[in-house]
Amino acid sequence: MFDSTLLEALRNARHLVVFTGAGVSAESGIPTFRDRLTGLWERFDAASLATAEAFRADPALVWGWYQWRRSIVHRAQPNPAHRAIAALANKVPRLTLITQNVDDLHERAGSHDVTHLHGQLERPRCFKCQREPDAPLPVPDESEAGRRVQPPTCLHCGGPLRPGVVWFGESLPVNAISHAFQAAEDCDLLISVGTSGVVYPAAEVPQVAWRAGATILHINPAPGPLHGERDFALASAAGNALPALLNSAFAEH
Ligand code: OAD
Repeated sequence: MFDSTLLEALRNARHLVVFTGAGVSAESGIPTFRDRLTGLWERFDAASLATAEAFRADPALVWGWYQWRRSIVHRAQPNPAHRAIAALANKVPRLTLITQNVDDLHERAGSHDVTHLHGQLERPRCFKCQREPDAPLPVPDESEAGRRVQPPTCLHCGGPLRPGVVWFGESLPVNAISHAFQAAEDCDLLISVGTSGVVYPAAEVPQVAWRAGATILHINPAPGPLHGERDFALASAAGNALPALLNSAFAEH
């Protein structure tokens, strides 16, 4: 079922980078951004929910929307794709996991040292002084999710807490993106899972790996065009493709 060159590339990988987007969590019931009908940015206006200006204008609206997203993630469970990625770490000498996702399903599936390029829902910080609260946020109450909710205030300066995610117009965490580019330069295989690849600079990560000579595998039910013999695609849902790939590459080895 899988191309033998691809299976060899996986078996022989010295450094594997797995680069994930919203599609890896879709089968856990977490909406993606750009899938028609179900994507968040098909249903909600990003400019009034995911920018610093929006938060300044209406903090309760923005906080409530992110509480709704937190409540979905809290109810969700990692799926076979997250688990297969965690299992892959034990099959190759080195695996770097880079995600654009703000959920914690990779961690809950057993992956360690996950690089979150776009921040994390569970890492809010003060909008004014940038400090993170000492205690984790309570799990959102179903009744407050999706309603206007005033954000909690910072115990140090009294400013409002903001979601710990990267909003449009903001820079990515410097350490995270430089770590991602270094790993992409160094890897011999990069598996891109469930991303539309349209948001920069994150979308450059596979491109950097490609230019550095790595083999690339895209796992996406709607893959884009391929660019050469080092470029592979599995047009399938991640929860099917990744466990099957892991099995084929390593079952008898
Ligand atoms: P998108 O919603 O843009 O793309 C999700 C991709 O996942 C699409 O290409 C789908 O075809 C694919 N997909 C859907 N179901 C899948 C499945 N079961 N298995 C595999 N793939 C599947 O999400 P991202 O590419 O992650 O940024 O979006 C990138 C960034 O845009 C996000 O991190 C977010 C958003 O604005 C910030 O919040 C800064």
